[in-house]
Amino acid sequence: MAHAPRLDEEDGAGVGLERVTNVAEGGAVGKDRLPVCAGAREQLPVADEGTGERPPGQRHDPPAALGAVAEFEGFAERSVQTVDQGQTRFGKLNAHVSSGHVVRVARNLRSHRLGEENRATKRERKLLVAGIEQWGGAVRMLELAGPRAPRAGEVLIEVKAAGVGNWDDIARAGNWDLGRTAPVALGVEAAGVVAAVGSAVETWSAGDEVLTHPLPLVDQGTWAPWLIARAADLARKPTAVSWTVAGAFPVPALTAVQALNDALGVGRGDQLLVNGAGGVTGGLAVSLAVLRGARVLATAGPSSRERVLAAGAATVVDYHDADWPEQIIEATGGRGVDGAVNAARGGEAGALRAVRDDGRLATITSDPPELERGIASRSVYVRPDATQLEFAAAELGAGRLEFAVGARFPLAEAGAALVRAVAGRGGAVALEM
Ligand SMILES: NC(=O)c1ccc[n+]([C@@H]2O[C@H](COP(=O)([O-])OP(=O)(O)OC[C@H]3O[C@@H](n4cnc5c(N)ncnc54)[C@H](OP(=O)(O)O)[C@@H]3O)[C@@H](O)[C@H]2O)c1
Repeated sequence: MAHAPRLDEEDGAGVGLERVTNVAEGGAVGKDRLPVCAGAREQLPVADEGTGERPPGQRHDPPAALGAVAEFEGFAERSVQTVDQGQTRFGKLNAHVSSGHVVRVARNLRSHRLGEENRATKRERKLLVAGIEQWGGAVRMLELAGPRAPRAGEVLIEVKAAGVGNWDDIARAGNWDLGRTAPVALGVEAAGVVAAVGSAVETWSAGDEVLTHPLPLVDQGTWAPWLIARAADLARKPTAVSWTVAGAFPVPALTAVQALNDALGVGRGDQLLVNGAGGVTGGLAVSLAVLRGARVLATAGPSSRERVLAAGAATVVDYHDADWPEQIIEATGGRGVDGAVNAARGGEAGALRAVRDDGRLATITSDPPELERGIASRSVYVRPDATQLEFAAAELGAGRLEFAVGARFPLAEAGAALVRAVAGRGGAVALEM
């Protein structure tokens, strides 16, 4: 895989990336190698698209077309000049090549009239994202600046899919510090293709397929076509995992891993309760705990029961039964579980009841119960961890985890996607770019 062009920090502003060619490494990109193709649509005016003949005044061949085959990976540029209604224009055409094809073409067209040049440049540096104007505001499409070029330790990702969870509503309300001020694109998980890397990034190259939980946000959230993220927060996307699934996976996966590993230290032979196993995070906790050799007892409603059993739970009880904690204790021979993950809002007290004396409880619902009988409790708040994410993604790619996307929406319908996620029925929710 060719290395992406490295961009110095001062190269930064705008999507145009005009200076990429000047700093490209090892001949991986170059203006002479930008594919030329008649029939291009998203480009400078071409008089005769059918024949590819040059329009009057155009000195160069028609520039790159979406989908054209290219010999390199990453960004490249080409100089162009046209005469349009007597006005001479010149500029740069930038193409992004991924997997051997041009996937994006942008132009930075200047004219001799300064006002026009400024307007053209400004237009190119806008990004249509889904987010909020102020904390607590409704989700809608916003035009924000960017994306800029990645700085040291950062990568620019072309987002393919992004997850939507009930936690995004906590962020929308201003109760989760994302590290940015509004207006801001929401979204804290995504999957996509690395488009360019900043200096001091050794691990990733243009064209790499990745997923990430990129908090605190470097620039904007993930509900956007482009994302700047720290290279250290990326994990490799297995090819067997679809973009949509990979985009919605990082937050529930990291939360489940961190509850089992960091908070409970679940090991072989432990008896573990997962309360809320019918949910996205709870379902992952079941399969991950089974992989660690635990005997899993779970709560789920009737419609999720079979799925939770298929994920490897030894016993599933219906949380609608008032005595479900006692049913769990009975299933452990009267002793109670060694540890419990509570992944159901309001389910902390019930989960605690099922834990044996001196056992452990991890809750992900921010509402730890009053402790009793020597039980230790931890509240888990998801945090980025590339190693944990890569491990979980590999297990998902190998088909060893239970995880499904129940609803997918286009970016423009992010508000409806959030409503669906908050309702919390039927799997994860994803935005597809
Ligand atoms: N702390 C963190 O970092 C973090 C990270 C991720 C999520 N969370 C939180 O964890 C909770 C779960 O989120 P999620 O997205 O994984 O869940 P979800 O997919 O929205 O879970 C919904 C499912 O939970 C089950 N459920 C509902 N009420 C229940 C109850 N009283 N007892 C047991 N199960 C019940 C239902 O499944 P069935 O009826 O089909 O069984 C429902 O379909 C949310 O409060 C979320 O905000 C926290």
